[in-house]
Formats: sequence, structure tokens, C-alpha cells
Amino acid sequence: MTQARRKILVTSALPYANGSIHLGHLVEYIQTDIWVRFQKARGHECTYVCADDAHGTAIMLKAESLGISPEEQIANVKAEHEKDFADFLIEFDNYHSTHSDENQTLASEIYLALEANGHIDRRSITQAFDPEREIFLADRYIKGTCPKCKSEDQYGDNCEVCGATYAPTDLIDAVSTLSGATPTQKESEHFFFKLPEFTDFLKDWTRSGTLQTEVANKLSEWLDSGLQQWDISRDAPYFGFEIPNAPGKYFYVWLDAPIGYMASFKNLSERTDDLDFDEYWKAGSDTELYHFIGKDIVNFHALFWPSMLHSANYRLPTGVNVHGFLTVNGKKMSKSRGTFINARAYLNHMNPEYLRYYFAAKLSSGVDDIDLNLEDFVQRVNSDLVGKYVNIASRTAKFMMRFADGNVSSHISDPELWQRFVDAHDHIASLYEAREYGKATKEIMALADAANQFIANNAPWTLAKDEANSDQVVAVCSQAINMFHALSIWLSPVLPATQEAAGEFLNLDIRWPNTLEWLNNHTIAPFKPLMKRLEQPAIDAMMDDAKAELEALQAQSAPTPTLSSSEHLDADPLGDIIEFDDFAKVDLRIALIVDAQPVKGADKLLQVTLDIGGETRNVFAGIKSAYQPEDLIGKLTLMVANLAPRKMRFGVSEGMIAAAGPGGSDIFLLSPDSGAKPGMRVK
Ligand code: MSP
Ligand code: ZN
Repeated sequence: MTQARRKILVTSALPYANGSIHLGHLVEYIQTDIWVRFQKARGHECTYVCADDAHGTAIMLKAESLGISPEEQIANVKAEHEKDFADFLIEFDNYHSTHSDENQTLASEIYLALEANGHIDRRSITQAFDPEREIFLADRYIKGTCPKCKSEDQYGDNCEVCGATYAPTDLIDAVSTLSGATPTQKESEHFFFKLPEFTDFLKDWTRSGTLQTEVANKLSEWLDSGLQQWDISRDAPYFGFEIPNAPGKYFYVWLDAPIGYMASFKNLSERTDDLDFDEYWKAGSDTELYHFIGKDIVNFHALFWPSMLHSANYRLPTGVNVHGFLTVNGKKMSKSRGTFINARAYLNHMNPEYLRYYFAAKLSSGVDDIDLNLEDFVQRVNSDLVGKYVNIASRTAKFMMRFADGNVSSHISDPELWQRFVDAHDHIASLYEAREYGKATKEIMALADAANQFIANNAPWTLAKDEANSDQVVAVCSQAINMFHALSIWLSPVLPATQEAAGEFLNLDIRWPNTLEWLNNHTIAPFKPLMKRLEQPAIDAMMDDAKAELEALQAQSAPTPTLSSSEHLDADPLGDIIEFDDFAKVDLRIALIVDAQPVKGADKLLQVTLDIGGETRNVFAGIKSAYQPEDLIGKLTLMVANLAPRKMRFGVSEGMIAAAGPGGSDIFLLSPDSGAKPGMRVK
């Protein structure tokens, strides 16, 4: 399968500059990086650009809450993001920022083109306004009482208790979460992109093979139900670019964010001889352009963005590759569950290649969510990478040295088996090309199994007991080395560091050849261990870090919703919302603390024995910073009695103690003289 040299530009979505990279983000950057490394290994000109998404209200408020300027905020976060990505072996050709000269120039130029083409509308709209802070308020910065069920403290557009949706003006006693002031209504002129005029264009484009079928189907629903004009302006104060000829009006962050892809490439092309901006971006370009994104931002990339490019006479994406969301142990990542794991918490304890491999094994070309099951993770990494792949080299290398000084035999001992490897080569490439990494790793591991079976059947360690068998030992081990080489080639996009180490051992550069060839006249180097087993304590330590980070974040955060992670998801910054029905299932009981003991090896935990009216429960609680174990005995507390038992490092926890307070020594349980009786239900 020889192909002409393709010119390919690849992007991942630009992470917001107001928070850390977490394992959910990494699904995308790892997915993209594997694809890019694969293309480069095959000899194509493939360029991977990204940037921080630096604009918007959330970032402005975040900087304010930290007492720094937005410029300082985005510089700090950019440095942190770049370090996290580098440590996960994500190799961008350029990592830029949307707050850059290139982006300002391009955003202004594109906007002026849209305007000249009659695609911009202006009209006044009325919005909620904070009279104290003098700032317009997006729905997520307004709270009040639900007009329907009268629950207090509900966000501006929907009630988390009864599920009602409404306009922020319908809220009873609405307040601005930024100042506590009552919002007023204020009119101002906004700029709109006339998206409905692109309906026919989009109907064609979304069906032209650029999107996964399930994504195209979803978009059809939107296209059929009619598109709305898109509000692309925001009033000052706003951290962003001022709109040309419109003082005090700024581009909405999502207007200049995708243009950031172009800006990052422009910045790179200006210092790279081989890259020409126009060749990659002008209409009619015959280079390829792929955006990798998550399913939450499809409308921006498959409706607004192609329409803007089309109007401004730029090329359109060749493909928008959408992936699903990461869940941890089967559930949405959640700060309150402690499964919101930052990149750094992982990196502090584990080899990045484990996660790269695990994600690869789970990824397909579809939009299904992918689950990081921590038990399965340990199992899979150890069994596949250490047990199957590395094992082939580690159990045969020493015989190669002892009997042949590392010289690989040109004789193929099992030609049929080798032919299976040769035949798989193109197929594995086509699976990578199609982003079917799960299928690729499955096929690779099936061949690793076959290689191990071959070694076991020939048992070189038994043969080696008799010097007379040395030719046979070398033949068997040479075939093992050749198979190990093939597996190393195929895993190289996923395991770039191991690829280096395997290359040193094999004494060659691991490249993706057009056809797989047996090593001829080749000498390998002595074997050094390539990868360690993953052990459970590393996982536990990561989870402890994740919890500690969360606590630190909660302690530093101001009571305003400045943690809001994005401009498009109005997620609760501190945890998932549960439905009232879920809450009703919680069985809260008064419990008598009959015993409390320190836990060996855990700084924060106490092992507590609770009596809930005749029944005792063993619970591990993170309250050691506030209580001496002996002071707790005989006191009453509140426990969640119907929590599924949870296996922890130190034993099984059969419930949870309800405690309140900011942490440290300020954690409060119930007092002993409350008149409550053990076992009493609380509700
Ligand atoms: N700034 C915008 C993107 C602008 S692109 C012109 C943004 N940033 S983000 O930081 O919220 O997300 C960056 C990427 O990570 C998005 O593609 C998003 O879908 C992806 N993910 C964020 N959380 C994720 C998971 N939990 N799981 C998988 N991908 C996730 O959106
Ligand atoms: Zn309600």
C-alpha cells in the first residue's frame, strides 16, 4: 500500500485557559496524537496544531478571583497545559494562544468578509444586567427561586429540583451571583451571524462524507427544525478582541476560537520553510484538514465554522472527527466522587503510556463514551503490554546474546506464522487510518499471543540446556525478535517512549515500512527492561492526589461561580446535580460511634465502628485531621446507611459519615446531647 505523500493538517479542540487538563480532555489529545504519529510514521507531511482558548467571561472572572490580570492568568495556564501535554507525550508542532496577533488579524479579516458578504445582522436585544458590577449576565450568573416548584438557589435557565426551564426574568428574587445585586434589564446592540442563510450549504456539506453518520443525523434534526442567527458579540467588559469599527463590542469567544486553529498554523508557517499558509487554507486547497473534537462542541465545528469559512472564501474541513466523553468506573467524571482526575495527579504516579494504551484499546471511530475502569486498566496494561508485548523480547533476548552475539538469523523458522504478520501489516494501518484503534490493538495483541505461543511451544529455555541445540535456539529467538519488531512498529503511534527504547534494543530506528520485512544481517543490542508492571498503590496514590487537589480548589475558590469551566456547558463547578428522587433514596441515620481507631498508612482516615440501633457498621472516614479517635467514642453522628459497601485499600467501608466544614480541624459531627437515638431516620 504505497501512497503519495499527503499534506495533512490536524487539530484538537483548544482547551480553555481557566482550568487544568484532566483525563477527559486527554481522550481527545491522545486520540489525535496517535493519529498524527501514525501519519508521520508513514511518511506524510502531517502538522498538528493547537492552542489555548484564552477569551471569555469565565477566564476574565477567574483571573479577577485570583487577583491577577487575564494576560497573567492565560500565560500561567498555558505553561501548565503545555507541560501536561508534553508529559503525556502529546507532540504538537505548534501550541499557540487565541489571544495572539495572528488570531486578531485573522478574526478581524474573516469578520469583515462576513460583513461585506451581507452575513452580519445588527439589532438591539434586552439582557439581564448586574447594576453593581456593570456587566451583562449570562444565565449561569443568575440565581433565584424556581417559579414552578419554589426551590431556592436555582440557576438562571432551569431548575435542578423540578426540571422546569424558564427565562431568567421568570425567577423569583433573582440575584447576580457576581455581586448579589438584583439584575436589571438592559438593552444593547448585538451582532449576529446569519446562519439560516447557510442551511442549504450545510445540508450538502454535512452529508458529504466529512462527518460520522451519527453526527450527520443529529445535525439533520437541527437543520430540519430551522437554524437561528448566531449572536457573535459581547459588550464590555469582556476579555477578547474588539470588533473592527465597533468600539466597546467584542467577539464572542466562540467566534475567534476556531480561527485559533488557523492562527496557530500561521504562526508556525511563518517560521517553517515547507509550510505555506495559503496552500493549506485558501479555498480550493488540496491539502487535508481534520478537526478532532468532543461531542459537546459539534454545533460550533459543523455548523458555524464551515459556514464562516465558506463565506470568507477559505477551504472547508476534510473531516470533523467527533469522540465521546470519558467516564470513570462507569460514571460521569465527578468532583464530588473524586473521579475528576487531573493530568498531573496521574503523571505524579504513573507512566503516561499506560493511559495512552488503555484509551487506544477503547477508542473507535464512533461517538460512544469511553470508560476508564480502574481495575480493568491495571489488568489490561499488565496483561497486554507487560505480559504479551514486552515479554516476547525479555524472554528471548538473552539467548540471542548467549548463542549468537545478537546476530539475527536470516532463516525463518515458522514461515506460516511470519506470513500472518506480513499480511496483517496493511490491515493494521487501515485501522489506524480509520481511527479504529481498539480494533487495531486487538489485532496486534492477537498476534502477540501467537508469538508467545510460538515461543512457548519451542521452549528455547529447554533447548538451551544443550549446546547442540544452539542453531535451533537462535532460529526460534530470531523469529521472536522479528515479531517483536513488527509489534513495536504497530504500537509505535501509541507508545512513543517505548518505541525509542525498543529501537535501542533492536538497534534500529522503528519506522512504518510499506511492507514488513525480515531483519537481514542485523545485530541487536543487549536487552534492558522496557516497561514496569502497573501496581494498585499507584492508582490509590493518584486518587488521593485527585481528592487533595479538589480540596485545595474548594478552599481557594471565591463564593462566586468563577470556576465555571466553559462558555458552553453550564456545569455545576463543584459536583454533579442529582435528581430529588435520587436524594430521596439516601437513608440517613443517627449512629452511635462505638469505636474509632487510626488506620495504619493513612494520614487522614479513621476506622469507625457505628451502631445504628442494634446493627453495627464499619466505616472509613477522612476526619482524622479534626478528631482524636478516643474523643469520638460515645458520640452521635449522622451516617448514610444504604451506601453500597466500598472496597478501600484498608478494608470494606459500609457507609459514610456525614460531616460538615471546610476541612482541616474544622470538621463537625453531631453533638452528643442532641436527644437523637441510634438508628433514627433523619428526613
Ligand atoms: N475551548 C473549547 C474548544 C474550542 S475549539 C475551537 C472547549 N474547551 S474544553 O477545554 O472545554 O474542551 C476541550 C476538548 O476536550 C473538547 O473537545 C471537549 O469535548 C473535550 N473534553 C472535555 N471534557 C471531556 C471529557 N470528560 N471526555 C472527553 N472529552 C472531553 O470546549
Ligand atoms: Zn423548580
